[in-house]
Amino acid sequence: MAAVSFRNIQKSYGKVDVIHGIGFDITDGEFVVLVGPSGCGKSTLLRMLAGLEEISGGEIVIDGKVVNELESKDRDIAMVFQSYALYPHMTVRENMGFSLKLRRADTAITAKRVADAARILNLDALLDRYPRELSGGQRQRVAMGRAIVRDPKVFLFDEPLSNLDAKLRVAMRAEIKALHQRLKTTTVYVTHDQIEAMTMADRIVVMHDGIVEQIGTPLELFDRPGNLFVAQFIGSPAMNVFPGQLVPDGDGRAVRALGATWPVNGMKGGSAGQPVHYGIRPGDIHLAAHGTPAKVIVVEPTGAETELLLQVGSNGDAQTLTLVMHGRTDAKPDDIVHLAIDGAKAHVFDSAGGQRLS
Ligand SMILES: Nc1ncnc2c1ncn2[C@@H]1O[C@H](COP(=O)(O)OP(=O)(O)OP(=O)(O)O)[C@@H](O)[C@H]1O
Ligand SMILES: [Mg+2]
Repeated sequence: MAAVSFRNIQKSYGKVDVIHGIGFDITDGEFVVLVGPSGCGKSTLLRMLAGLEEISGGEIVIDGKVVNELESKDRDIAMVFQSYALYPHMTVRENMGFSLKLRRADTAITAKRVADAARILNLDALLDRYPRELSGGQRQRVAMGRAIVRDPKVFLFDEPLSNLDAKLRVAMRAEIKALHQRLKTTTVYVTHDQIEAMTMADRIVVMHDGIVEQIGTPLELFDRPGNLFVAQFIGSPAMNVFPGQLVPDGDGRAVRALGATWPVNGMKGGSAGQPVHYGIRPGDIHLAAHGTPAKVIVVEPTGAETELLLQVGSNGDAQTLTLVMHGRTDAKPDDIVHLAIDGAKAHVFDSAGGQRLS
């Protein structure tokens, strides 16, 4: 186990800078997820930590030691990739023990480590099979088994579940989390799927274009996104966001937008008339007897919940909003409904810089 620090990490390929100075600390035993859109630099950062990619600037520290110049094999890190690339001519047992064999570990120790990992991962019955005789999820478990037998200081995962179908992905997500709770090995996990990030992480690092936008626990990022990018990236369905103007409201503030006034609880900052973006999550808008009128466009029942697509505002200044409610509704397309907004859950961002104001 080990703590990991990134200090002002930079990376360029030739003249192209792809990581622009990233710094954060991961505590011993923590499960950190790097999330962000395609091309933002997640894999690059992970590969630099693994020693598979040269570091152009800054320092990476593992267990109190700067590892910039340390070769990958000497960093005591195990990585699981998206393409798990098992050796086809080796059994599950041989695949899992191979890295120890390369290190000339004692055969009795190797056998015990493989047996322990197989038990943890529920692979006991499959040890003598070949990869072609396994399902996708079983192969992914063998790939994790290969990492576990090495008992590394840090586990790295780069989109390990993206080759699996949706149902298996959810199951494996829970397995990886359970595995971490059991082994408590420091883990850095890369995904572009914000749901995976939300459900697995102790802390999430949101990346965008080679920088860190925000770091926090899943619920910190959900409840108080620091800027528009994080607000719109975290949460599904995505937060409703639309432009408006800040107006005084008693001794607080509200936002004037789409021909209506949108409540904001407890906000003091910002100036009247300031251009802002108002954000409200789909679950924080409710159908009510009175309130802002909206036209129903689509009704999507999913059983336990119903999602409504609504149009608010008039022709020149209209916006589509998403509302998610528990249970069911009689509302149908073209109905006019009224919306009550939970002002305590509103988010206000500066339109110019995108920073949070509320
Ligand atoms: N060997 C390379 N040479 C030049 N540019 C590269 C190289 N590898 C990556 N890049 C660029 O660096 C940026 C970051 O790439 P990276 O693979 O880290 O993204 P990512 O966040 O992992 O994306 P994805 O979610 O698609 O895997 C991209 O713009 C990519 O084009
Ligand atoms: Mg990647």
